[in-house]
Amino acid sequence: MAILVTGGAGYIGSHTIVELLNEGFEVIVIDNFTNSNPESINRAIQITGREIKVYNTSLLDSEGLEDVFLHNKIQAVIHFAGFKAVGESVLFPLEYYHNNVSGTLLLCQTMQRHNVKNLIFSSSATVYGAPDKVPISEDFPLNATNPYGRTKLMIEEILTDLYQSDNSWSITILRYFNPIGAHESGKMGEDPAGIPNNLIPYISKVAIGELKELQIFGVDYPTKDGTGVRDYIHVVDLAKGHVKALNQNMILKGINTYNLGTGRGYSVLEIVKAFEKVSGRSINYKITERRPGDVAVSFANPEKAKKELNWEAERGIDQMCADAWHWQTNNPNGYEKAPQIMEQEFPFVSSNEREIFLK
Ligand code: UD1
Repeated sequence: MAILVTGGAGYIGSHTIVELLNEGFEVIVIDNFTNSNPESINRAIQITGREIKVYNTSLLDSEGLEDVFLHNKIQAVIHFAGFKAVGESVLFPLEYYHNNVSGTLLLCQTMQRHNVKNLIFSSSATVYGAPDKVPISEDFPLNATNPYGRTKLMIEEILTDLYQSDNSWSITILRYFNPIGAHESGKMGEDPAGIPNNLIPYISKVAIGELKELQIFGVDYPTKDGTGVRDYIHVVDLAKGHVKALNQNMILKGINTYNLGTGRGYSVLEIVKAFEKVSGRSINYKITERRPGDVAVSFANPEKAKKELNWEAERGIDQMCADAWHWQTNNPNGYEKAPQIMEQEFPFVSSNEREIFLK
């Protein structure tokens, strides 16, 4: 029996497959590599010494999806695949709704046909919109403010309806705060295409000299130093949270939602200082206008996950920044290799053109 991981080549997906393999699970990945690189899977294999079966398939390819379920014994699905850039979602809402919502519908329909009813869904703290207070608990009002966030919210609602209609499903919704950092080996990390939108990848590129300066989006927020405050969580802690959630999901029926965060907020300036300290580089920055859609403060109440999943983030901000920097310096061009080069390197053991078997 295997765990199917959609979007397994992405930033959080790839770190999660390492933790799953370390815990002895068999892993199958579906990814269409539109915003990820198969080299991440290769790195997961290097780190764990285990095999991973990979399907180069979109969730929108219903036949391809059907094939995966026909040819494998799948116990549970961890569903990461989806578009994730807020600004892009405002420009291309139809693509976002189609890819994220329709892709999830097809996935759930295929799971239902094959009687696979254990699902972990990758949601986001973005579903809380601008919270009235912090820390944010799971029962806070939900209010996404952009198409990307609304796809997450819609999927949460669809999954709730699905469970109401058939309570033999077991569904876990994980709302992530701000994942940063990288695997401690320096082999795996965040590899955004183009100029990064998020804070840590941007700072990393300034530190290494690839980008000139960080723009700090606003110093007039009602926070300790005027800059935005977020709950940054080490991606490996987040990945371990998925394993804990999976273990619970496979025992209990029901639909459960958990915040995955540390419960601590750091300002942009505090992050800049922590990064400077661990990297020994100075980060040039300039203060600019607020970025539209940003909230002043967001951090989690992570107590529910602690109590019910027996999970707690362990890595502090210095380690998050140090691991991000280690990844950046070891891989100045990210995963670097283009997919066509990867194809020549990977042994194909299947005649099915969608299936790549990586060893
Ligand atoms: C963003 C997304 C969120 C998504 C999350 C994934 C937006 C509005 N929100 O969260 O939906 O789930 O990424 O990780 O895009 N900052 C700067 N300069 C920069 C970049 C960021 O000052 O160049 C500041 C931001 O204003 C914010 C903090 O750094 O205060 C963190 O920003 P970011 O890393 O983009 O994450 P979020 O905006 O919290």
